[in-house]
Amino acid sequence: MTATLIDGVALSKQVRAEVALRAAALTARGTKPGLAVVLVGDNPASQVYVRNKVKACEDVGFHSVLEKYEATMSEAELLARVEALNNDPTIHGILVQLPLPKHIASHKVIEAISPAKDVDGFAVESAGALMVGEPGFKACTPYGCMKMLESIGMADLRGKHAVVIGRSNIVGKPMAMMLLQANATVTICHSGTADLGAMTRQADVIVAAVGKQKVLTADMVKPGAVVIDVGMNRNDEGKLCGDVDFEGVKQVAGWITPVPGGVGPMTITMLLVNTLESAERATS
Ligand code: GUN
Repeated sequence: MTATLIDGVALSKQVRAEVALRAAALTARGTKPGLAVVLVGDNPASQVYVRNKVKACEDVGFHSVLEKYEATMSEAELLARVEALNNDPTIHGILVQLPLPKHIASHKVIEAISPAKDVDGFAVESAGALMVGEPGFKACTPYGCMKMLESIGMADLRGKHAVVIGRSNIVGKPMAMMLLQANATVTICHSGTADLGAMTRQADVIVAAVGKQKVLTADMVKPGAVVIDVGMNRNDEGKLCGDVDFEGVKQVAGWITPVPGGVGPMTITMLLVNTLESAERATS
């Protein structure tokens, strides 16, 4: 058996085309969706990420602002910038790129973003809203994974067992909540799990979000399962790879996401969706 690929590039293209149409309609009614991206310091990976986010905004007809600051910027100065963006009516989403320099408390900055503009979904209020099923912005990476499941006819996971590997605040935990909301029976595994394979072998859906290559191998997967790989690692040859042993697992799984070209493009796509929805809410 060879798994069918869930193509994040193709799905992103489709979702972004829908976003562009809705953005054009909103713009015609006088509100252009606007995203502010704030970068502090010169982390090379962050520079690439923010450039991609701004480019994605341009491609779907959003207004975007990239604010770049020296690594020496003080926490108070950054908080003042966030406050100014909170009060800027042309901005519907605020994203402060992480990691921030060590002298700045990331949680303080994230919590300073108005919940109405927290399009990353990282703030406590957004995470809490997800937990209790209230409207709020969903973290983009797990939201993108849900969109991938929806694209293969698995929007409702009633009767299915989903296993999430990883318990980070930005992927593992919100992922588990979204799967639960979709009626799955959910297990969260992590570095303290005694027998990971025993858990994953029961799963109809596996989401690997650990940040370590080959965490999931073929012997750990039930035939036909859906495998979603959130990992972004470099292998020994320096090539981009996920957390899943792709070559082995694709022989067993029913569906699998590749790395690159899987979850990665979906993260920025869902950032666009959140920003659009924020702009729509602001005008309704
Ligand atoms: N750093 C790496 N990924 C992300 C992300 O999705 N959002 C923010 N704000 N920072 C990041």
